[in-house]
Amino acid sequence: MSTHLQTPNNLQNIAETQPLSLAELVSELQSQKSIPTRARINDWLERAVLSDEDLAPYVGFKEGNYWRHRVCRNEFIEMLVLCWRPGHRTPIHDHNGSHGSVRVHEGRLWETIFHYDDVEGLQYQSARDYAPGSVTGSDVPDIHQLGNPDVSEQNLITIHVYAPPLGVLHTYKPGSTKIDLYTPEDIAE
Ligand SMILES: [Fe+2]
Repeated sequence: MSTHLQTPNNLQNIAETQPLSLAELVSELQSQKSIPTRARINDWLERAVLSDEDLAPYVGFKEGNYWRHRVCRNEFIEMLVLCWRPGHRTPIHDHNGSHGSVRVHEGRLWETIFHYDDVEGLQYQSARDYAPGSVTGSDVPDIHQLGNPDVSEQNLITIHVYAPPLGVLHTYKPGSTKIDLYTPEDIAE
């Protein structure tokens, strides 16, 4: 039988399992003075307890393309809420040096992962989908496509945290070695 002493380290671990409200999450993100690891970002999003009311100021859909709504941003990190009608999806892209995580708030997130080869070009690797509450991440240099399948018959709302904030992204086409640039648009603040 082992004894369990509450060292300061134990106390810290306990503190880091506490749920985070939206205000606490934003405060934590805004207080960052350097780029946090993906593990930390994942942990924040796992602990986040966000209601429909919390997200209401950032929820809005448009036809034709998904809509990005920024919750907060500083030099090191940003948080966005993305709203997707059925059939909306990103281009195939990487994050050009940023890493981050996504949490599904409502609906079902579809993700396709690709592998890039200098000779063969972009190759399909795998696909997954994520239910509400799921958290998934993308590292450097993951290449993927996110979307709400056109057969889902429901809206999708996702919460994204990126570090550093996204700038110009690289986009890809299956079977091609061509890499283009893409700047995500229509951020409502
Ligand atoms: Fe992405």
